[in-house]
Amino acid sequence: MTFNHQFSRLFQLDKIQPPRDFLPMSSDFWQINVNNICLEIGAGKGKHALQFAKNNPNFQLIAIERTEQKFVAMQKVANAETFANLTVIHADAVAWAVHGVPKQSLAQIFILYPNPEPHNPNQRWLNMPFFEFLLSRLQPNGKITLASNIADYIDEAYQKSVDIWQLPTLKSQVPTDSERTHFEVKYLARGETCWQLDITKPSDYCTRFDDV
Ligand SMILES: C[S@@+](CC[C@H](N)C(=O)[O-])C[C@H]1O[C@@H](n2cnc3c(N)ncnc32)[C@H](O)[C@@H]1O
Repeated sequence: MTFNHQFSRLFQLDKIQPPRDFLPMSSDFWQINVNNICLEIGAGKGKHALQFAKNNPNFQLIAIERTEQKFVAMQKVANAETFANLTVIHADAVAWAVHGVPKQSLAQIFILYPNPEPHNPNQRWLNMPFFEFLLSRLQPNGKITLASNIADYIDEAYQKSVDIWQLPTLKSQVPTDSERTHFEVKYLARGETCWQLDITKPSDYCTRFDDV
């Protein structure tokens, strides 16, 4: 099973440089934790990353944040609690995933309250050719959790997920008492509705990068 290639440009893998001071995880890390590695993209100050690491000791989480100030805040709390199952990374997640994540290695990817990119729809995660590469890094039956307070963003992502990427996708409302991230807390406190997509990569799904 795959998606309709004619609707998605091929991601230009070879144009992506490694992040500055790139330090890959060891091959042992990927082997020892096989089936139990998750990735968070745009982890902000790390609220979800820390909670997840605390509540899921059998899973490893790699939490990536591009903005230095937010990354430093995440690193500070991560260092204070020293979790053996949390790795925090200061990098662009696209570059880090391309150079640091093996094919079919991730059990789950979290993208929680991504920048809505109102003037740059091509930069929304499901609209990017990179999304095909990201799917190739998921294991069969791996999951993507995407949350947003912007109904149009979620509706567009849902349509893209189902129509273009051909992925089983569930849309739900985030419970009003959820407190996973700083942005989620802020939006729910204002009385806004937050939405979530739970996307699954079927076991027989194949992208053009699953063998790369
Ligand atoms: C609206 S904030 C949400 C932060 C956090 N997930 C939360 O819900 O509190 C979006 C975050 O994604 C980060 N981000 C955007 N694009 C990124 C990329 N390509 N790689 C890593 N982080 C990225 C931004 O720096 C920003 O901190």
